Amino acid sequence: MAEDSVAIMTSGGDAAGMNPAAMIAAQHAKSRGLKPYFIYEGLTGLIEDEIYEATKDRTTGMLHKGGTLLRSSRCKLFFEESYRKQAYENLQKRGINKLVVIGGDGSFRALNQFYNDFHVPFAGIPATIDNDISGTDYCLGVDTCLNIIRNSIDSIRDTAMSINRAFVIETMGRDCGYLAMTSALTSGAEICLVPEIPYDLDAIGSRMLREIADGRKTLIAVVSEGVNMSDYMTRWINDSLGIEARLTTLGYIQRGGSPTVYDRMMAFKFAVAAIDSLVAGNKRQIMTFKEGHVGSKAIEEIADQKPVMPSLLLDLCRPLCQ
Ligand code: F6P
Repeated sequence: MAEDSVAIMTSGGDAAGMNPAAMIAAQHAKSRGLKPYFIYEGLTGLIEDEIYEATKDRTTGMLHKGGTLLRSSRCKLFFEESYRKQAYENLQKRGINKLVVIGGDGSFRALNQFYNDFHVPFAGIPATIDNDISGTDYCLGVDTCLNIIRNSIDSIRDTAMSINRAFVIETMGRDCGYLAMTSALTSGAEICLVPEIPYDLDAIGSRMLREIADGRKTLIAVVSEGVNMSDYMTRWINDSLGIEARLTTLGYIQRGGSPTVYDRMMAFKFAVAAIDSLVAGNKRQIMTFKEGHVGSKAIEEIADQKPVMPSLLLDLCRPLCQ
C-alpha cells in the first residue's frame, strides 16, 4: 500500500510560532509513518505547485525564526473552482492525502471548501496575532506579539515621562481588541479603546482632568485599530486635556520577531495534536486550547463564529474605557 503523505502550509497573515509548528508537524508526521511535504506560499503555492518533501535540510534551523519560512499569501484565486482543481491535481500526483494548515479562520474555511470539493482531510492550527479565532483561548503568535508591544510601550513611556507628553499607541488586531486590552493592562496604560467595550469620552476626560489637577503630566492611551479612533484621540487629548500628544502606530513590527518560549511550546502542542488528529482519521478538525488543555473542534463549530473575549479581561479593562 502507498505511504500516506501530509502537506503542511502556512496561510494568511504571518505569525510567530508558524515556523516551529511547521517543523514539529513535519517531524511528528514522520514519526507517525506519514511522508511530510511543505507547501510554500500558502494557497498560492498549492495552486502553483510549490510543494517539496520536508527533508532535514528544509526543517533544520526553523524553530527560532519569526514570520514563516514557508511564506504565506492571502490568495483570492482559491475561491475559484478551476484553481482548486489545479491544487488538487498537484497533491494527487505526489500521493498527498492529508493537509495541515497553520493560519486563521479564513484559511480554515478555504480548506473546508477544498474538502467539500475533493475530500482531502485537513487539520488546522490556529495562528494569528489577532487571537480572534472562536473556540480557542490561544492562537500562535499572540505571546510574541504582546511582548513586542510591551517593549514598545515601555520605551514610549520613558520618553513620555521625560518630556511630559501623552502618547496614543495603536495596536493591530483587526476587529478584535485582545492585543489592545492585554497590552493596556500589562503596560499600565491610563486609557484603552477597543471594539468590545463601549467607551465614554466625557467620563475619561473628567477622570484624566482630576488626575492632571493632582499632578499627572503624562499618559498612555492604547487604541485598537478596530475602533478607528487613533487620530481623533490624539487631537482630543491635546485639545481637551491640554497635554501635548503624539501618535505611534505600531504597525507591522507587531507581526515579526523570534517566537517566545511560550509560542514555541504551544507550537509543539498544536503540531503534535494536528498530526495525531489526522492519523486518528479525523477529517476537518481545528486544534484548540481551552482552559489549559489542547483539544480540537470540528470546523463547523469554529468558522464564522465571533470570538468570545475572556470576561476577566473585559472587567479589568472597563475602568480604562470610562
Ligand atoms: O490578521 C493579522 C493582521 O496583522 C491584522 O492585525 C491586521 O489588521 C491585518 O493582518 C493586516 O493585514 P495585511 O497583512 O493584509 O496588511
